Amino acid sequence: MSYLEMSRSLAEQLKTQDHIRILAIESSCDETAAAVIEDGRRILSNAVYTQIDLHALYGGVVPEIASRAHVEKVDLMVDQALKDAGMTLQDVDAIGVTYGPGLVGALLIGVSCAKALAYATGKPLVPVNHIEGHICANFLTHPDLEPPFACLVVSGGHSHLFSVEDYGVFRVIGQTQDDAAGEAFDKAARVLNIPYPGGPLLDKLAETGDEKRYRFPRMHTEGKYDYSFSGLKTAVINQAHTIRQNGGEIEAADWAASFRCAVVDALLDKALLAARDTGAERFALAGGVASNRLLRRETLRRGTEMGLKVFMPPASLCTDNAAMIGAAGFYRLMNGELAGLDLNAQPSVRLIEE
Ligand code: KG4
Ligand code: ZN
Repeated sequence: MSYLEMSRSLAEQLKTQDHIRILAIESSCDETAAAVIEDGRRILSNAVYTQIDLHALYGGVVPEIASRAHVEKVDLMVDQALKDAGMTLQDVDAIGVTYGPGLVGALLIGVSCAKALAYATGKPLVPVNHIEGHICANFLTHPDLEPPFACLVVSGGHSHLFSVEDYGVFRVIGQTQDDAAGEAFDKAARVLNIPYPGGPLLDKLAETGDEKRYRFPRMHTEGKYDYSFSGLKTAVINQAHTIRQNGGEIEAADWAASFRCAVVDALLDKALLAARDTGAERFALAGGVASNRLLRRETLRRGTEMGLKVFMPPASLCTDNAAMIGAAGFYRLMNGELAGLDLNAQPSVRLIEE
């Protein structure tokens, strides 16, 4: 019997077990992470090593540095996750891993590590899409959340609005036509000389600023529910340039607040319109930008006002982590979506074919 055939029969047997524990690995960008998740909902451990300090010097993620740091840390994170969960490798039921989208060299480290563990233990290997992981982070803190729901996924590389129709069943309602929301935050932060990744610091700075001080253009897109952040990004850079060229100074907190407000308004105007038009009753946030304070407050306020039940993971589960991969991996395992030992990294894989 091949490894995959054996995994399939093991996965069937697992369904009769009281609890299923997945050791999950995430290495798609600049976080090396491992976690143990029970039944897709309960975090038994969640170890994250963030490489931010290594990349800050260069103003963004340097793929080669990311890969090297993943190689150095991935085993340590796996050991840490098992130790924190009070388990050995033999105690987990399956190995989940992010296979894309992300940086190919970075992804390959997690994928290779997961394949080696799966081969050594004979346990099923579950390939997880990173975006799906972000969405499933909501399951870890909201035991009452079940599909269907609408989910706005906003991260450094992605801005998508999904309809989550069932576990593992997604439909794209809208998406960015150019830059991701997180990318726009990082670029706007750079204008203020805020080090990478600028999003979180810009957000903090914005808390004390006047959001009406500066005006940024509104978004234009063909699709009713699609996003575009490139115009806003260019406007921010040009406007700053003009102010400085004229000898003026940018009031950083007001600038941050005005920019943040422009992005959050744009995100929510479309997302909530889509939620209303599609008849969604529940609305969830996901991805690194979902830790943005204004986005969280406004989603809760506007969503609740519309009669939506609103969900969002805590900030620590919005940015990249392996717990969310373990949550998504559980539902993939239940759906029999397993990988063989030929699993490869897929840097541009989509969550669904559109
Ligand atoms: O999901 P994530 O950790 O990685 C990707 O999958 O891309 O998202 C990282 C992105 C970065 O662009 C970062 O600046 C942004 O999320 N971000 C924020 C905040 N926290 C993280 N953007 C705005 N406000 C925040 N509080
Ligand atoms: Zn991410």
